[in-house]
Amino acid sequence: MSVIVQTINLTKRYGKLVALNNLHLNIEEGECFGYIGPNGAGKTTTIKVLATLLQPTWGEARICGHVVGYESRRIRPLIGYVPDFFGAYEEVVVQEYLEFFASAYGITGKQRARVVNDVLELTDLVFKRDAHVDSLSRGMQQRLSVARVLLHDPKVLLLDEPASGLDPRARIEMRELLKELRRMGKTIIISSHILHELAELCTTIGIIERGELLFHGSIEEIIRKVKTGTKLHVRVTEQQDLAALLLERKPGIKSVDLLDGHLVVELEKQTHDFSGIARILLDNNFKIQEIKEEEVNLETAFMRLTKGIVQ
Ligand SMILES: Nc1ncnc2c1ncn2[C@@H]1O[C@H](COP(=O)(O)OP(=O)(O)O)[C@@H](O)[C@H]1O
Ligand SMILES: [Mg+2]
Repeated sequence: MSVIVQTINLTKRYGKLVALNNLHLNIEEGECFGYIGPNGAGKTTTIKVLATLLQPTWGEARICGHVVGYESRRIRPLIGYVPDFFGAYEEVVVQEYLEFFASAYGITGKQRARVVNDVLELTDLVFKRDAHVDSLSRGMQQRLSVARVLLHDPKVLLLDEPASGLDPRARIEMRELLKELRRMGKTIIISSHILHELAELCTTIGIIERGELLFHGSIEEIIRKVKTGTKLHVRVTEQQDLAALLLERKPGIKSVDLLDGHLVVELEKQTHDFSGIARILLDNNFKIQEIKEEEVNLETAFMRLTKGIVQ
């Protein structure tokens, strides 16, 4: 796998405000990178630099080895940028909208008709071909934005919060579309503050806060990083409080809490072997209903890694 998007010491200042501070990113071809951070973290700034719309104050960004700011004209055919807003297009219908942008990319004639048709099909908008762009729902407008940036078949997609403001159904449709694009081999950078959606979609994630990258890796890695001891949810048929007192005194058990009629047992080490706990309970004649490991999800991981500080 080769690195397709790279930033080296990427720094962006707006006056005195440091929006990005020495950002190092390496994104490989075919990766679907979820860029997560609270409002004001620097996501849009990063994406705009990669889209060649902003110059770094210091450091550099490269797409397929081409340096933003020096070789932007070589970069633009390689990328598709979906900004976090949709412009106003009065009296324009979907087909014309796409034809206009196709022409801007130098796609004309029969090829244009074919390409417009292809992206309409891919984004499931064929039935809206003759509808006014302004009349589309937000979800359809977002899909149309994606359709627009697919016209020139770019390698890298830069999507700035494409799911924001969408209702649940439209979110799912957007996610399915992005999965399809991932299957097509596109490299995708997608920003969001909605984490659980990215967990299913993305191969890797980066967490940014106040212009600093706190973490970059797979979802499994992030969970491993924030996880200390194993937490178990234990349910016995009766006398939960006695079971709690019993377990509390055993070595290897950090703490025991009662929660909603069951025990939350925190072990000092990570393990998937719960036989020790089961044995203690069985030896003392407790009847076990359930022993379940608590899952650390992306949401918890994010909360632990960031303090939610917004500039
Ligand atoms: N054009 C600008 N002028 C001054 N400050 C800006 C500008 N754009 C963004 N900022 C500031 O830079 C920081 C990062 O913003 P942004 O990249 O939009 O974050 P995000 O997309 O993660 O919400 C914020 O503090 C924001 O207020
Ligand atoms: Mg933003």
